[in-house]
Amino acid sequence: MAKIIFVNTNEEVELPDGSPIQEVCEKAGIPFACSEGICGSCIIEVIEGMNNLTDPTQAEKDFFGEVENERLACQCKIKKGTVKIRF
Ligand code: FES
Repeated sequence: MAKIIFVNTNEEVELPDGSPIQEVCEKAGIPFACSEGICGSCIIEVIEGMNNLTDPTQAEKDFFGEVENERLACQCKIKKGTVKIRF
């Protein structure tokens, strides 16, 4: 199992390795609109564990240019381990 920690709320959520993170992020209160990496409503800041997320999608590269510590939650899957997120 992988784990997401939402630093805003100190909430920890476990999910199977390889899962999209959208559903747990939605439950935590992150707003989603397009779910296609276009609108930017689901921007998250990755505080720790960026390597545990799948690589940025083309939609994220188009959105951010250079992807550093921000991601679009609708585009990310968690591979394994723990990822700390702020939103
Ligand atoms: S919901 Fe629109 S970019 Fe993620």
